[in-house]
Amino acid sequence: MPADLSPIDKAKFVAAKRAVDFVQSGMKVGLGTGSTAAWMVRCLGERVREEGLKIIGVPTSSRTAELARAVGVPVSSLDDVKWLDLTIDGADEFDLNLALIKGGGAALLQEKIVATASDQMIVIADAAKEVAQLGAFPLPVEVIPFGWQTTKALIEETLVSMDVLNRDVTLRMNGDRPLITDESNYIMDLHLKRIGNPRQLALVLNQIPGVVENGLFIDICDVVIIGHADGRVTVRDINAGSESDDRIDFAPPDNIFSDMGD
Ligand code: 5RP
Repeated sequence: MPADLSPIDKAKFVAAKRAVDFVQSGMKVGLGTGSTAAWMVRCLGERVREEGLKIIGVPTSSRTAELARAVGVPVSSLDDVKWLDLTIDGADEFDLNLALIKGGGAALLQEKIVATASDQMIVIADAAKEVAQLGAFPLPVEVIPFGWQTTKALIEETLVSMDVLNRDVTLRMNGDRPLITDESNYIMDLHLKRIGNPRQLALVLNQIPGVVENGLFIDICDVVIIGHADGRVTVRDINAGSESDDRIDFAPPDNIFSDMGD
């Protein structure tokens, strides 16, 4: 493992490296967004270049599409491919049931559509993302710009009757302007600290006019691959009720590490 990676990047890298073992030739694969997913895309690119792995990737953001093309992973759109064998993506938090908070990278909408259109979703994460209860990470909610302040007020009102610890809602900014998603929407971050009933909250949020989608992924993810900085990886499958440990020992080619931006 390259010595100059930070411990967190080592953990993300080994989780990503293990996840691409699940990809077989002929598969249509959803490509997640974020720094962990970026490692996965680079590792997939390595398999395409070195083993001649034949896959079609469906990216969940413009950033991921750009990286996939740069590392040689063929990409297509969900409309062309329609259904996927597997999606591999990162997460901001996951709990024991593999309920997730996603959207820290503002790509939750495409990520949820792509993951839902997949036979299987594998989440790759460093161990710090595992939580007993979701909510310490602010919950991203994508809203349309039209009337966003009204939508924000409705979200705040809705939260009053929800089982959460805190109710601050903030508009995500990019410098001095609202951050704009790939779908030209805004992101609200819900600072809840603890989400008592993620399933109920996910349903209720999506009833609010102006809300496009929320970052709670419930019953979508089947498998989590947890990476550790020392090279250990744990593969947990909630459907099979299994958990196995592995260690990644590898000598990656330098070109995997040539593009570290994400
Ligand atoms: C992007 C996401 C990411 O998967 C999530 O934010 C995790 O990112 P990272 O792997 O960089 O920690 O949901 O919208």
